[in-house]
Amino acid sequence: MTQDHPGTGPAGSTTRLVTTKTALREHRAAMPGTVAAVPTMGSLHAGHLALVERARELADHVILTDFVNPLQFGPGEDYEAYPRDLDADLALVDGLVDVVFAPAVQEMYPVLPPTVSVTAGHAGTILEGAARPGHFDGVVTVVTKLLQLTSPHLSVFGRKDAQQLAIIQRLVADLDLPVRIEPVEIQREPSGLARSSRNAYLSAAGREQALALSRTLEAARAAAPSAAGIRDALAAAVARAEIDWDYAHALDPATLRPIGPEHRGEVLLTLAGVVEGTRLLDAAVAVATAP
Ligand code: PAF
Repeated sequence: MTQDHPGTGPAGSTTRLVTTKTALREHRAAMPGTVAAVPTMGSLHAGHLALVERARELADHVILTDFVNPLQFGPGEDYEAYPRDLDADLALVDGLVDVVFAPAVQEMYPVLPPTVSVTAGHAGTILEGAARPGHFDGVVTVVTKLLQLTSPHLSVFGRKDAQQLAIIQRLVADLDLPVRIEPVEIQREPSGLARSSRNAYLSAAGREQALALSRTLEAARAAAPSAAGIRDALAAAVARAEIDWDYAHALDPATLRPIGPEHRGEVLLTLAGVVEGTRLLDAAVAVATAP
């Protein structure tokens, strides 16, 4: 079934809402030129619009997928509570993307859990994966399906979920998927808070407390270009900040292993903390060029 999105944006909008794989494939087959996929779980905000903007810069057509993937939520996580508002999502991207693919769970997974799935391996068991067992296996399984269904030339992913981005780059390389992965810079609120759908869970006080993440990253970046300096500044800022930290690491972006003082080149600073029961992530890149 193909539905016409009623169109809340500019008159003559060509954005189409499709909910079935068959309709998606039909629309995809009719797209001449290059196609970019923007996988999302909906609850769209300015961070997602930056992904859409980049996709529009890089390709002739854009397919945005809007699906809260049950496979990437563990027991007791916020799958049920995760914010969903398809009408608002459609209004936000109306006229900006060619197709919004918003399938029901039954459409994506006729059998749940699927008999065959993809695993993220060791990289999926560290950092976020240590706190959320199975999360990245769920992510790579749905991303593989979405890339198969949309068959894009490129797909965009935000740098805030730095581990997810690294794992998806590995997925594409290891399974020889014919798609280019384009990282997109983190979008921040004027306060510095990284934009996230889960920010909607925070009170005003929680949002203030959450600024500890971006401030900690800034403190570590300010210590560049010394690798040891970056590491030490990160540890000091973490100790100062009043937040329930899960982890704060300075990593080699290629291996996701902690850097040593001799490290040169990019350093991935990656943080996870819990504010008012909400798990928040943030990340930044520093460059180490000196001892
Ligand atoms: O980053 C997200 O929103 C999700 O993990 C993704 C990539 C859309 C897969 O469900």
